[in-house]
Amino acid sequence: MPLCRIAPSILSADFARLGQEVSDVVAAGADWIHFDVMDNHYVPNLTVGPLVLKAIRPYTKAPIDVHLMIEPVDELVPAFAKAGADIITFHCEATRHIDRSLQLIRDLGLKAGLVFNPATPLSYLDYELDKIDIVLLMSVNPGFGGQSFIEQTLDKVAAVREKLDRYAAESGRYIALEVDGGIKPGNIARVAAAGADTFVAGSAVFGAGSPEGYAKVIADMKAAVAALG
Ligand code: DX5
Ligand code: ZN
Repeated sequence: MPLCRIAPSILSADFARLGQEVSDVVAAGADWIHFDVMDNHYVPNLTVGPLVLKAIRPYTKAPIDVHLMIEPVDELVPAFAKAGADIITFHCEATRHIDRSLQLIRDLGLKAGLVFNPATPLSYLDYELDKIDIVLLMSVNPGFGGQSFIEQTLDKVAAVREKLDRYAAESGRYIALEVDGGIKPGNIARVAAAGADTFVAGSAVFGAGSPEGYAKVIADMKAAVAALG
């Protein structure tokens, strides 16, 4: 059965009840919590920072996957590590020095990931695989929840899958391949078939409106991927 981690994005949760939303969605079957950080500089929106991460941390033991859409990157990494991040990903274009940012995250004992916008070339990966734990491909342009999945992402997923399989065969290291934006029960199987193993879903999960609804959407997504055999 293909690996299928579901990482609900808190961006579509009820922020007045964020701790409860985090525990509810994990009880509903979520594998990771996806924590979207926007700075109104790298992207035209403003969300949450380390204080809010610290506040939700006691509500779950599930890994918290911090997606930094901020520029610059390095200055805030230690604060997110201290607040309880397990994984920190950042955008290729948002740092002066990709290698240094990856190393900074790993030195703090966290998993590090590199994020690619729909138009970001994959060549950034070529010399950095040894320091990457997660590749995050955006299937929308970052900044907002609730956008439609960009179909060309499927070819990009397949291209990264090929690179990661080749690397795993040589090195024995498995790098996660996460896709973010517009993922729903109706399209997740195609994204998984192209080679992704971790799926961010914000509006699809939290849009269901209740813990029972979250459980149904997450179960539907996992069943769609499991049906690939
Ligand atoms: C977009 C964010 C995504 C987004 C996902 O900039 O990084 O994580 O909130 O939301 P949906 O699943 O609604 O596209
Ligand atoms: Zn995200």
